[in-house]
Amino acid sequence: MTTNQPAPRPVTVIGLGQMGTALAAAFLDAGHPTTVFNRSPEKARPLVARGAVHAATVAEAVTASELVVVCVLDYPAVRTLLDPVAAELRGRTLVNLTSGSPEQARAEAAWAAGHGIGYLDGGVMTTPPGIGDSAHMILYAGGPELLAAHRPALAVLGDPVDLGADAGLASLYDAGLLGLMWSVFGGWLHATAVTGADGVPAKEFTGVAVRWLRTVAWFMTAYAEQVDAGEYPGDDATIDVQVAAIGHLLHAGEERGIDDRLPRLHLELMREAVAAGHGGDSYARIIEGFRKGAFRK
Ligand SMILES: NC(=O)c1ccc[n+]([C@@H]2O[C@H](COP(=O)([O-])OP(=O)(O)OC[C@H]3O[C@@H](n4cnc5c(N)ncnc54)[C@H](OP(=O)(O)O)[C@@H]3O)[C@@H](O)[C@H]2O)c1
Repeated sequence: MTTNQPAPRPVTVIGLGQMGTALAAAFLDAGHPTTVFNRSPEKARPLVARGAVHAATVAEAVTASELVVVCVLDYPAVRTLLDPVAAELRGRTLVNLTSGSPEQARAEAAWAAGHGIGYLDGGVMTTPPGIGDSAHMILYAGGPELLAAHRPALAVLGDPVDLGADAGLASLYDAGLLGLMWSVFGGWLHATAVTGADGVPAKEFTGVAVRWLRTVAWFMTAYAEQVDAGEYPGDDATIDVQVAAIGHLLHAGEERGIDDRLPRLHLELMREAVAAGHGGDSYARIIEGFRKGAFRK
């Protein structure tokens, strides 16, 4: 049987920790000829058993494919591995899925440009078991044309989201999104402790909580427009109303012996806004409390 699909192109994966191994496995599953390299070579064994080619050196790894994906602990490790093979990388596309800061990503992009290497910086927005599932995003920044050229291969890992030409943006979004995740985890676990104290199983509460997150996402979408406009009309729910509402959470937690540091932080931010004369505004006004403590000036 013949198809019009082009044959999957060769790819190289450097770094076979938990994430790199999942990336290489996804490429193999999609039929890409996959070359792998890891500092500790024994980690390549399970992938070789699935059809990967094990490169003995980094140079061998990068020259095996036009598309080279690196995913190691941090940016200094990327530089240690790739600096000696900059000449071999020239003319190829390097996709760096290692986590780091926007500043490190921009420095890496400048290093790559200086050596004639195409560079895409990425942020993997899932854990290794989520790799290969298009429900999860992988953020890319620094080369929309490179992403367009390699989209078919990169889509194998997760849904590619293009953040544009600034190579720092994948790391910046990644940091912000992890902050959002920790805040959601914190709020959910605190609430699960409060409801759990009355015998509600976490699974039961979580079903309702996940549905509530969809409504919260709807609020956020409306509030984003307010943040961009710098205007926070309290025409849905005011901060004053939410100061009263958080009192119920604090009371319920106190009665059940639950740690109150998290809701107290929210209350502190709300009270600062109220003290600055913004009690009648929407919750989105709180962003000014984060901007160098603007309410305290
Ligand atoms: N795991 C996740 O859920 C997840 C999610 C999103 C993003 N990430 C990011 O993906 C990257 C890798 O994470 P991971 O979970 O795969 O970590 P990991 O399992 O600890 O693997 C770390 C990898 O980095 C390599 N490495 C560390 N220092 C090195 C050095 N100096 N020179 C060469 N290689 C070095 C290790 O090689 P050896 O095997 O030789 O030690 C290994 O391949 C990190 O930046 C992480 O933040 C991970």
